[in-house]
Amino acid sequence: FAPPGSAAGGGGVTAHDALGDDVTVEKWLATHPAGDRKLVEGLKGDATYLIVTPDKKIETYALNAVCTHLGCVVPWNAAQQKFICPCHGSQYDSTGKVVRGPAPLSLALAHVNGDSGKVVLSTWTETDFRTGLAPWWK
Ligand code: FES
Repeated sequence: FAPPGSAAGGGGVTAHDALGDDVTVEKWLATHPAGDRKLVEGLKGDATYLIVTPDKKIETYALNAVCTHLGCVVPWNAAQQKFICPCHGSQYDSTGKVVRGPAPLSLALAHVNGDSGKVVLSTWTETDFRTGLAPWWK
């Protein structure tokens, strides 16, 4: 698959920021602190969280922000270190693993690759490391 205008090598798509610009590793890390979780436009145009690790790198996985209950975009609550859905109260931990329903499933994962200098997202097809299960979003 290759959404128009965003194709990158290896079958991924370049993440876009709120202005529609390509997200670069250097600029993202210059403007987002360790522990930060902020949205970009990711695979299929879905709102997707990039995570900044404690040692100031972009985490190698990103989280699809779409609630697995009925599809609201789930905000990150830094004080509680959880994603808390405003629609019906589902909660996900800092890795996007569901910890409270009604959401039935954890937030979908995507791979993150910054080797080109741009943040490139690709579909996560391997086992979900949070649950040990096959990915439900494939
Ligand atoms: Fe998120 Fe219902 S859509 S809890």
